[in-house]
Amino acid sequence: MSLWGGRFLDESNKLFKEFNASLSFDYILAQEDICASIAWSKSLLETGVLTKTEQKQIEVALICLKQEIYTNPEQILKSDYEDIHSWIESNLIKKIGELGKKLHTGRSRNDQITTDLKLWCKNNIQILSQSILNFQKILILTAESYYDVIMPGYTHLQRAQPITFSYWCLAYIEMFKRDFSRLEDTLKRLNVSPLGSGALSGTGWNIDRDKLALSMGFRSATNNALDSVSDRDYVVELLSSASISMMHLSRFSEDLIFFNSSEANFIELSDSIASGSSLMPQKKNPDALELIRGKCSRVYGSLFSILVVLKGLPLSYNKDMQEDKESLFDAIRTWNNSLLMAILILKNIKVNRLSCYQAAEKGYSNATEVADYLVKKGITFREAHNISGKIVLRAINENKALKDLDLFIFQEYNNLIENDIYDHITLEACIKKRTSKGGVSLNEVQDAIIKEKIRLNIV
Ligand code: ARG
Repeated sequence: MSLWGGRFLDESNKLFKEFNASLSFDYILAQEDICASIAWSKSLLETGVLTKTEQKQIEVALICLKQEIYTNPEQILKSDYEDIHSWIESNLIKKIGELGKKLHTGRSRNDQITTDLKLWCKNNIQILSQSILNFQKILILTAESYYDVIMPGYTHLQRAQPITFSYWCLAYIEMFKRDFSRLEDTLKRLNVSPLGSGALSGTGWNIDRDKLALSMGFRSATNNALDSVSDRDYVVELLSSASISMMHLSRFSEDLIFFNSSEANFIELSDSIASGSSLMPQKKNPDALELIRGKCSRVYGSLFSILVVLKGLPLSYNKDMQEDKESLFDAIRTWNNSLLMAILILKNIKVNRLSCYQAAEKGYSNATEVADYLVKKGITFREAHNISGKIVLRAINENKALKDLDLFIFQEYNNLIENDIYDHITLEACIKKRTSKGGVSLNEVQDAIIKEKIRLNIV
């Protein structure tokens, strides 16, 4: 049964009915729709549309409905109602008869749907924030376990300067701190209630919309009804937060895929999150990481889809906006599942200290130190860079590490170089001297770990 039969003489075409319906995906808003309906019934009581007994009867029936579908919301799918609003209204009427028909007084599905969706976003922002915190916790514990493991840091995927595994973990902590704060920002702006905006110009009933907003946990009511029913900025913001965070998860995955390669051999992934090849018995593939990287593109698709849906829409509500939901639900589920998977991966990771160290020793990642050494002897950096480059070329030709070159070879390039050069170019020395804020020195890293553990409440 539709909610709008009166003006129509003919039945809906079956194909159109299916095309138009959103119940198959908006059924997940059932809990939110019922919460908002209970709040609305209280406003109707205050404005005199419902008596006290009527409001109570509606509220009890809605709570009962809520419990009935709590454990199995999919049961809703057995019916052929257009959307979750019509399903709930019709089931309310089935429970309490004619009285149920009063609930929709003064509201529209236009303010109803965006209220439900905002409530859903609020709940999911909480879930996602917690997942981000849990991911940061495991990152910090991993940093602590491998805090002095030296490995090469890369630029252009060329060994650049030595870093530590803990420092790499801390870089991701920073990214996910920004993701967390993006969710906080999104929440700040979306936390205003559209309920009571009616179809587009406000409700004709004397409703205290701010009070109604507070009763549902919003900060206040929205200012302009026309904007309220047209606004899906919060969907765009949430999807852009999701996209940025998935990009971070994808880079995290790409780093680990490389660290896990036979060529690098810096880490070993647990069997429980890898898979084998059907043909090649020796293979252990990093599928979980590859899938996170792959799923990132799907979340970008959702962001792009809502941006395109909205860009040409005249105010206010248009049915195009129904297309906001499937991709939002999918993207949020994908983001949260990717975070859970990243947690699982880190929980069981093993870092291969020796391979990391050996790789850092190769590739002349201490060449900057030779230049800095010469600068300390009074040579300009540009000149020192040139000398150091020539020494590296010599070492490459002799197939040696810098530390294995004899002193007289160093001195061929500059006679200010003395025996203490060897102390300056150890990997440990490279790391130790980077003590300024944000540097890789073990003291800096240790301070950062302590600060993060306090922030994340890890004792
Ligand atoms: N299913 C619709 C949506 O998701 C709900 C709002 C319907 N409003 C309307 N005027 N037809 O957007």
